[in-house]
Amino acid sequence: MDIFSFVFMSSRLFLFYFVFSDAAVKISQSQSLSDGTNLVSKNGGFVLGFFSTGNSTNRYLGIWYNNIPVRTVVWVANWRNPIRDSSGVLMLNSSGSLVLLSQNKTIAWSASSTKEVGSPVFELLDSGNLVLREKNEENPGSYLWQSFDYPSDTWLPGMKLGWDLRTGLERRLTAWKSPDDPSPGELSCGIELNNYPEIVAKNGSKKFGRTGPWNGVGFSGATGVKANQIYHFNFVSNNDEVYIIYHMIKNSAITRAVLNQTTYLFERDIWVEADKKWIAYISIPKDKCDSYNLCGAYGNCIIGESPICQCLEGFKPKSTERWNPDNWAKGCVRTTELSCEDKDKIGFVKFVGLKLPDTTYSWVNKSMNLNECRVKCLNNCSCMAYSNSDIRDGGNGCVIWYGDLIDIIQVAANGQDLYIRMPASEKVNQEDVKDKQKMKVIVVVAIAIAVVFGVLLIAYCICERKTLREKMKNKRMIDQNIDGQNEDLELPLFSLATIAMATNKFSSNNKLGEGGFGLVYKGILEDGQETAVKRLSRNSRQGLSEFKNEVMSIAKLQHRNLVRLLGYCIEGEENMLIYEYMPNGSLDSYIFDQMRSNILGWCMRFNIICGIARGLLYLHEDSRLRIIHRDLKASNILLDSKMNPKISDFGMARSFGGDQTEGNTNRVVGTYGYMAPEYAIDGLFSVKSDVFSFGILLLEIICGKKNRGSFHPEYSLNLVGHAWKSWKEGRTLELIDTCLKDSCILPELERCLHISFLCLQQHHEDRPNMSFVVMMLHSESSLQEPKEPGFYVGKKSPSSSKNQSSSTNEITITLVDGR
Ligand SMILES: *[C@@H]1O[C@H](CO)[C@@H](O)[C@H](O)[C@H]1NC(C)=O
Ligand SMILES: *[C@@H]1O[C@H](CO)[C@@H](O)[C@H](O)[C@H]1NC(C)=O
Ligand SMILES: *[C@@H]1O[C@H](CO)[C@@H](O)[C@H](O)[C@H]1NC(C)=O
Ligand SMILES: *[C@@H]1O[C@H](CO)[C@@H](O)[C@H](O)[C@H]1NC(C)=O
Ligand SMILES: *[C@@H]1O[C@H](CO)[C@@H](O)[C@H](O)[C@H]1NC(C)=O
Ligand SMILES: *[C@@H]1O[C@H](CO)[C@@H](O)[C@H](O)[C@H]1NC(C)=O
Ligand SMILES: *[C@@H]1O[C@H](CO)[C@@H](O)[C@H](O)[C@H]1NC(C)=O
Repeated sequence: MDIFSFVFMSSRLFLFYFVFSDAAVKISQSQSLSDGTNLVSKNGGFVLGFFSTGNSTNRYLGIWYNNIPVRTVVWVANWRNPIRDSSGVLMLNSSGSLVLLSQNKTIAWSASSTKEVGSPVFELLDSGNLVLREKNEENPGSYLWQSFDYPSDTWLPGMKLGWDLRTGLERRLTAWKSPDDPSPGELSCGIELNNYPEIVAKNGSKKFGRTGPWNGVGFSGATGVKANQIYHFNFVSNNDEVYIIYHMIKNSAITRAVLNQTTYLFERDIWVEADKKWIAYISIPKDKCDSYNLCGAYGNCIIGESPICQCLEGFKPKSTERWNPDNWAKGCVRTTELSCEDKDKIGFVKFVGLKLPDTTYSWVNKSMNLNECRVKCLNNCSCMAYSNSDIRDGGNGCVIWYGDLIDIIQVAANGQDLYIRMPASEKVNQEDVKDKQKMKVIVVVAIAIAVVFGVLLIAYCICERKTLREKMKNKRMIDQNIDGQNEDLELPLFSLATIAMATNKFSSNNKLGEGGFGLVYKGILEDGQETAVKRLSRNSRQGLSEFKNEVMSIAKLQHRNLVRLLGYCIEGEENMLIYEYMPNGSLDSYIFDQMRSNILGWCMRFNIICGIARGLLYLHEDSRLRIIHRDLKASNILLDSKMNPKISDFGMARSFGGDQTEGNTNRVVGTYGYMAPEYAIDGLFSVKSDVFSFGILLLEIICGKKNRGSFHPEYSLNLVGHAWKSWKEGRTLELIDTCLKDSCILPELERCLHISFLCLQQHHEDRPNMSFVVMMLHSESSLQEPKEPGFYVGKKSPSSSKNQSSSTNEITITLVDGR
């Protein structure tokens, strides 16, 4: 047997002697584990031992990662009952219970099986699970006891979160009181056993946040939690058990989910070996809308709107006073009362893109279809809404809600449909017409009328859209003025005089550069703070209120890899944004400069790559605004004093680009050499066009060359084509920036190169999203083979067909397409 399969370390004394009679890693009844000795799992991943926190001398029995230098405890046994000295001993007593004894033989903690026990052993499994089992019984179903059934604050792969309905056991996470105090804090998180179960976090006994129910693919409201190639989720709900579990697909990355009382966050972290630290990959709540029931009944929380609480269509604020943060929770009421008895006067209005409401009063039938669901809901006056319980395969199953609908959020991506009961006078969905079994003729006539009316309406709308929009905006502005801008955001408004003084009257000596939306100046405020002032071009197509709204929404975007907005200035024709100043300038001034490129070794470049990826992930997925940058390039990556990257000009394209409908634009904003094919050619943009630009950036950082303007003399390929060819032929080393040759960690660099090709796929559906890019950067899982990237041969490049001659032009181009 392999002696190393059981590493027994002692910092004090070997108190007893082990005889290994078989290959299992375990401690039996005649043995024990005392303070100072550790039990390491077979593959060396986890340790069971005693630890203290902070300056305290209290001792706790716990499990932590063996190979991670920052001690990260995942489970604590005696968290309610610390041992005051180092006298603790863990052993099996004669009746087969696991007991933790302190010096005076008092029991600090114990674990017993409800079953009859024969000859038990305890063992720390490679998953981090401490189990008590019969010596010869290794079937997980027959464990006498396991620590995975009694979680602390950490949810590990393979650990069930939820209920065993047969025994009434609830596996629930509870945060530590503080990083130095493992005793249970107020914050906890588990599955609520509603008919339609969901994960709910609680602060004490009060609901604090919820993920929304499991819809077959993910949680309705936690759209960041979804299948990927690193780990996958499984949600089980039957008569015996209700739980959620996740498994690593390959044991390539170390990840954990942890509930944190200090930050009030439920975070999924990933261990980054290069940085020797945990980084948060996803955290919930991610914004204000995730606060439970912020907007009250029938309120819809929309981040980016002002105020963020809006009433669903057909509802109005309950409080007659204007909405403000204090009475949001009062919610909304119907504009037209519902009469229950007369079913002909009732219909359902479909709302799209929502996080489904709280499911406390819900009912589910997994085999009913949507129409049966509707009938079921229609026949009970207290049923307020219905929906599919599972969204896979176009949707199936039925869930209905009784009573008020609360905690609804408008989510940017992957939101769900909800059909809400309404008086027939409100517009109802078409199934109603069907259901009332009106004669076909009437339907046809109605449709004909509708078409005619529709055409007229469209014509009217086209004429009126602009005015209408203006009116809406004005109305909103008036509302806000009355509200006195109750938003919690306090972004300073600077006067023109202050800014003029700070920038030396916009002196050309202070000019830092020129971006797509205007000139950038360095400014020094009176208190000495250095700033970058972006003076937006005067022909900005925006009105005052629009500008202000947009600035407020950009200001909400805060991330360590985004340049921070410090304030703004509106005066006369001037619209200016004041950002933090980045002393090290932009990335392009390093990587494309022969001398300065030497400063950026591989470690720094990798750090920059990861930072950009995380910043972009935040824009795409973590901020509910779902910002598509549209102009990601080396000159838009600024470096702080420690060479940490910060993305600039985010939100600009969305906010100041103008003339765009969803996902399609007739005004292509961007920079040649970074644009995805579908964007440059058809004006189609999506998060995946940003992923493409990220791929180019990655390549440029690795190669130290610009994509545009660095053609290989022989093949007339651009950088992408050249890199692809070299990579395919196994000549990676010829590609990389010469100054990296000494500093680079080749496998890491090759992995980045590989990821860049995945980002550069011709078809956007072949490109990974940013959350997956971040995972790939931080793990060692094997990567998918890329197909030939887009923009392979120079000739295919649509930019050449657009007849742009200056190939090295790095300034953002705004191109009005003549379609
Ligand atoms: C631990 O002790 C040091 C030195 O006495 C002190 O500076 C520090 O604040 C203490 N930390 C905690 C968490 O109490
Ligand atoms: C035994 O020690 C624990 C602390 O380890 C203490 O709380 C308890 O009072 C002690 N009991 C006796 C009987 O001394
Ligand atoms: C073993 O420990 C369990 C749990 O503390 C306890 O109920 C049981 O009485 C103990 N057995 C003996 C023989 O002390
Ligand atoms: C949690 O609850 C406590 C006690 O009710 C309260 O003081 C605290 O503000 C709450 N925290 C959050 C983040 O809601
Ligand atoms: C919780 O957050 C605090 C502050 O960021 C951090 O120091 C602590 O380590 C975190 N706790 C856990 C268990 O991750
Ligand atoms: C669920 O719906 C199906 C199909 O309508 C029906 O046969 C079944 O009895 C229903 N189950 C429950 C528990 O209502
Ligand atoms: C409607 O549903 C509620 C909640 O399930 C139930 O209590 C009530 O009896 C139902 N009413 C009818 C008429 O079925």
